[in-house]
Amino acid sequence: MKFVTGAWVAQAISVAAKLGIPDLLAAGARTAADLAAQTNCHPRSLYRLLRALTTIGVFEELADEQFQLTPLAELLRTDSPHSLRYAAIMLGENHHYGAWGHLLGAVQSGGIAFDETFGVPVFKYFDSHPEAARVFNHAMTELSSNVHIAVVDAYDFTPFETIVDIGGGHGALLSAILRANPKLRGVLFDQPAVVEGAEPHLAARGVADRCHTAPGDFFQAVPEGGDAYVLATVIHDWTDDQSVEILRNIRRAIRPNGRLLLVEQVLKGPNAEDFGKFADLNMLVMTGGGERTEEEFRQLYERAGFELLRVIPTRSSSAIIEGAPVAT
Ligand SMILES: C[S@@+](CC[C@H](N)C(=O)[O-])C[C@H]1O[C@@H](n2cnc3c(N)ncnc32)[C@H](O)[C@@H]1O
Repeated sequence: MKFVTGAWVAQAISVAAKLGIPDLLAAGARTAADLAAQTNCHPRSLYRLLRALTTIGVFEELADEQFQLTPLAELLRTDSPHSLRYAAIMLGENHHYGAWGHLLGAVQSGGIAFDETFGVPVFKYFDSHPEAARVFNHAMTELSSNVHIAVVDAYDFTPFETIVDIGGGHGALLSAILRANPKLRGVLFDQPAVVEGAEPHLAARGVADRCHTAPGDFFQAVPEGGDAYVLATVIHDWTDDQSVEILRNIRRAIRPNGRLLLVEQVLKGPNAEDFGKFADLNMLVMTGGGERTEEEFRQLYERAGFELLRVIPTRSSSAIIEGAPVAT
């Protein structure tokens, strides 16, 4: 029953996160009626939501319909260091939840559930739905921050001069790498609307003087002359043919002794406990991409003119898949 009602749980957590209830409880316990007044909710219905969430350890109910935070609820606070607030919101939003509702169609047709549901690919949808795009970008920043710390710890960036982060979002990974490597310069490449929103983040992280943004489309071209090209959770969004197209554009731009560094989950063998296999289903629903095995990455690299050198595990669930351009 826990598994078959998983969608109820995700939706309930998403609504509590969206209403900002965990933030409102940061200073201490409050009654459901008080929280309802502040969030424009129906008091009894909000009480029922919070009561249900106590059964899975999100919130604790005290006397007189008061609720307080638990360690799980702390993770839904905006300012929690390991916050999952926007990830929780995103997973319950129509653009995500609605697309998962069409998983059956995707499994039957081999198509992309998102596109079948909304009529456009997800990143195009974001162009005309700024609020969904905002939630997505925040969720990416949250979900990837632990991965970013692990990548900086696991890989030696000191041999490089210029690192180019392709599809780098708001520059969280690039900033972490630049902060840990004070001589390195960085280029943040992403779609125009995304890099536009990145400038304040780079300034706030103190790396704006060593980093510039470059708007563009990685299916057309990427900035030239970098000696390390990082793509963190980008390639898993795309089919093999699309991925090869992106990687070939990097092959054209990279210095001969440069390094290609994909940060992705690398799928384990049959039956292994592996969150990556559900993350892979999410790709089937949302983008038509997928998570890959080491052998599948090796084939992508070969098709795009790279040699896969090694897979470097990190403390997170993602690994660094290091490649070098093959001389032509
Ligand atoms: C899953 S996010 C990964 C973000 C970031 N690398 C991270 O680890 O948080 C994929 C990124 O690819 C970018 N992207 C999608 N299509 C693109 C395109 N055609 N050209 C450049 N960037 C693109 C998106 O805007 C988004 O920031």
